[in-house]
Amino acid sequence: MTRVFALARASGPIDPRRRVTGDHPSHGEPTMYDPMMNLARHASLRQLQVFEAIARLKSFTKAADALYLTQPTVSTQIKRLTDVIGLPLFEQIGRQVYLTETGRALESAVKDVFGVLDRFEMKVADLKGLKQGYLRLCVITTAKYFAPEVLGRFCQRHAGVDVALKVTNRDTLLERLIANKDDLYILGQNPDRELEMVTRVFAPNPLHIIAHRDHPLANARDIPLEQLAEEYFIMREPGSGIRDFVLKTFEHAGFKPRVRMELGSNEAIKHSIYGQLGISVLSLHTLGQERPQSPLCILDVQGFPLERDWYVAHAKGKELSVVASAFIAFLDEESPQLRKRLEKTRNRLTRWRSNSASSKLDTTQQGSRG
Ligand code: PGA
Repeated sequence: MTRVFALARASGPIDPRRRVTGDHPSHGEPTMYDPMMNLARHASLRQLQVFEAIARLKSFTKAADALYLTQPTVSTQIKRLTDVIGLPLFEQIGRQVYLTETGRALESAVKDVFGVLDRFEMKVADLKGLKQGYLRLCVITTAKYFAPEVLGRFCQRHAGVDVALKVTNRDTLLERLIANKDDLYILGQNPDRELEMVTRVFAPNPLHIIAHRDHPLANARDIPLEQLAEEYFIMREPGSGIRDFVLKTFEHAGFKPRVRMELGSNEAIKHSIYGQLGISVLSLHTLGQERPQSPLCILDVQGFPLERDWYVAHAKGKELSVVASAFIAFLDEESPQLRKRLEKTRNRLTRWRSNSASSKLDTTQQGSRG
């Protein structure tokens, strides 16, 4: 039992306006009873952090994993916090954890507390300049082909900066942006939802139709899209930005792709093309590691590549830290290098260019794979 509860028990119901004495025996000054003081004295930030993780992940186990704690530690922290507050914070129905009314009120308070602390940390980092700081970057799946390297070079320049990189698909990235979870986001197109965000283009993100190099159309020029109607396509999973864009473009062109498989990773798609399971639309960035003798090649299809860009974004009104602003400027510096790499990849994987002598093929005579 905490001291304030003991006081309350001894002297009847608590009147928040009521003064109690003896809080500061050394001063002998009467003090106003303040329920928040109870939390401030007896709860810890760590407990609030554990509470926040459980409330967000709706699971003690997941919260323990996310915070690198054991489950008994998480339970103990929550038990202590519950004792301080004096009302249950969670209820468990079956395997599901729900917030009680008190829990929901605490969740909102904790969000405010961590928001304030976050801004304070940012101020401190800014005062220290780029000597020290933290950058939370969340990038869309396909950006993993360049973002870690760019981050690496950024960290080499600013040795005191720590970074957290989250790679996820478009839907999850937009959810995180709305919840203001990260400092900056990298995505492959401006969101069509009415999102309040500031975006800036820093590099191209062209999408090509990729096939096996033994595909009958590998050497063909200027292939009409309709000629791919019999081809098997391998698509990214629902929620992927590329999938969204490609399906909309095809629909707009009145073209219906024959989808054989949906896969949640660009690498898995590349391997399916190695296995000649079909063709796909991929960002050129995913092919940067392919050697000239790679089994993959770019098809020269009319209307392709679909020219898109990479955007760096953040929520409108977000106060950017010095580190985040420096990273945006750094992306601009990296842009020529990214462009150069794309050009090299394109040249390596375009068979009709490298075999131009033998590429005078009439696309109308090309057989296509069913
Ligand atoms: P994705 O998005 O990796 O989720 O498909 C990339 C993009 O939109 O270019």
